[in-house]
Amino acid sequence: MNDAYEQLLSSAANAAEAIGECIKQDNLLLLVCHNDADALSACGIMVGSLWRNDARFLARSVSRIDDFFQQADEGLASADCIVFLDIGSGYVREIYNKFGERKVIIVDHHQPQSFDVPKGYVHLNPHFQSLEGATQLSTSGLAYLVSKALSEENYVYSPVAVVGALGDLQDKDGQRRLRGINARIVEEAVEKGLMYATEDLLLFGRSFRPIHVALANTSSPFLPGLTGREDVCYSLVTSLGIKVKEGDTWRVLADLTEEEKSKLYNAIISFLASKGLPARSIAKELIGTVYELAEEDRWTYLRDAREFAWLLNACGKTGNAWIGIAIAAGVRGGLLEEAQKLLEDYRIQMAKNMELLTKPDTVTNMEHIVVINGGDLIDEKQVSSLASLISSSGMIPQDKVLIAWARYGNRVKISARANRSQVEKGINLGSILSDIANAVGGRGGGHNVAAGADVPADMLEQFLKEVDKKVGSQLGT
Ligand code: C5P
Repeated sequence: MNDAYEQLLSSAANAAEAIGECIKQDNLLLLVCHNDADALSACGIMVGSLWRNDARFLARSVSRIDDFFQQADEGLASADCIVFLDIGSGYVREIYNKFGERKVIIVDHHQPQSFDVPKGYVHLNPHFQSLEGATQLSTSGLAYLVSKALSEENYVYSPVAVVGALGDLQDKDGQRRLRGINARIVEEAVEKGLMYATEDLLLFGRSFRPIHVALANTSSPFLPGLTGREDVCYSLVTSLGIKVKEGDTWRVLADLTEEEKSKLYNAIISFLASKGLPARSIAKELIGTVYELAEEDRWTYLRDAREFAWLLNACGKTGNAWIGIAIAAGVRGGLLEEAQKLLEDYRIQMAKNMELLTKPDTVTNMEHIVVINGGDLIDEKQVSSLASLISSSGMIPQDKVLIAWARYGNRVKISARANRSQVEKGINLGSILSDIANAVGGRGGGHNVAAGADVPADMLEQFLKEVDKKVGSQLGT
C-alpha cells in the first residue's frame, strides 16, 4: 500500500497545484459536489482551504450530475475552473463533451468510467492506484490530501475527512473501524489531539449523553423500535437494574462497568430478536471504534463522528446542503443550531420511512433482489439513506441484494446495496446499475457494494428484471 499511497499523494499534489494555479491567477473556482455526508465533508474541507487562501469561489451541491449539466445549459457554470467532488469519475466523457477544454479537476472515489484522462484535466481517484474506493478512502479523504498539499496547516480538517468516510459507511469491514488510508487520517487526527478513537459500544454520544438518550440517538446501525424512542430506551435500561444517575448526574455509557455494558448489549439483542429481527447480525454492528471530535462541544451533534455524518446527511437530503458545507468548513453559532434542528426532524422522518416497510406492497421479493417500493411516499432524496439504513438493520436476507426506489416526476431514483460477502463473491453493483440504467435510457454508477441510478419511470419494471437477472449471474446462483 505504501507505493500506492505515495502515488496517491503525488496525484493529490497535482490537483492542489492546478487549484493553486487558479488561485494565483485570481480565477473563479466552482466547486460542484454531490449531496451526501461524504460529499459535503469534502466540499467543506475545500471551502475551508480556499477561504484560508482568499480564493474566489462558489460551491454548489447537486443530487445528480444531470442537474449540474442542466445548470450549465442555463449559463450557471461560467467559472474558469470546475472542481468536481464526489461526483464525476463515472461521467468524464460527458463532462468533457459539456465543458471541453475548460480547466476541470475531478476528486472522486467512485468507480471511474475509464482510466483515460482528457488532456488538461486532473482526475484524482484511488482506483487509479488500485485502492478500493468503497472502503479505503472516501472523497473527503481525497479532498483532505489535496488540502494538505495546499498547506500543511490544513491538518485541522482531518476529523472532517473521518466524518465523510463514516458517512459513506467505510467502517463496514466486520469490525466497524476505518482502515486503509482512512486509518492513516485517523492516526493523524489523533496525533494532533483532534480526535479520540476508542473501542466500545457504538452508541451515539458514549462519553457525554445519558445512556438511554445515547441509545435512542443511535442510527448506525438503526435499531428498529429503539432508535428515536427515548421512552422505550429508558424503560429498557432501567429494567436491567442499571442506575441511570449517580446523585444528580446522568451516567454515560463510558461510566458503565464491563458487566453493565454486556447486560445492556444482551438486552438490545433480546429486544431486537423479540421483534423477529436478525438480532445477532445487527448487534455485531454495534461494537467497534467510536470516533470523537475532541474540539467539538459536548452535547452538540458534532462530537461523535458518526452522528456528525448524520447531521450532514440531514442537511444534504433535505435541500440544505449549503448548511452542511458551511458546518464542515468550520462555521458554528446559529447555523449549527439550524443544522441540529434539521437532524432532529430528519431522524423522525427516517423513522417514518422505516415504518413504511410494514405496509403491504412496499416490499417485493424477487429471485435475487428485495425491492422496497417507495413510490411517491418517500422523498427521492432520501431513498439513498433509507437503503443504507435498511441494509445496516440486517432486515434483508444475506443472499439477496437490496433495491429501493422512489418516484419524482416521470423518473425514478434507485439505490442498491449489497453486503460484504456478496462483494467477495464478485458482485459489482456500480457496473450493474451503470450498464442496465444506460440500456433503459437512464444513468447509474457507484461502488461495488453501493450504487444508484435514475431511470424513466416507465422503464422501472424492465430495469428491475434485468438487475435481478444480472445479480443472479454475478453471484453465480
Ligand atoms: O444514490 P446512492 O447513495 O444510493 O448511490 C450509492 C453510491 O453510488 C453513492 O456513492 C453515489 O454517489 C453513487 N452513484 C453514482 N452514480 C449514480 C448514482 C449513484 O456514482 N448515477
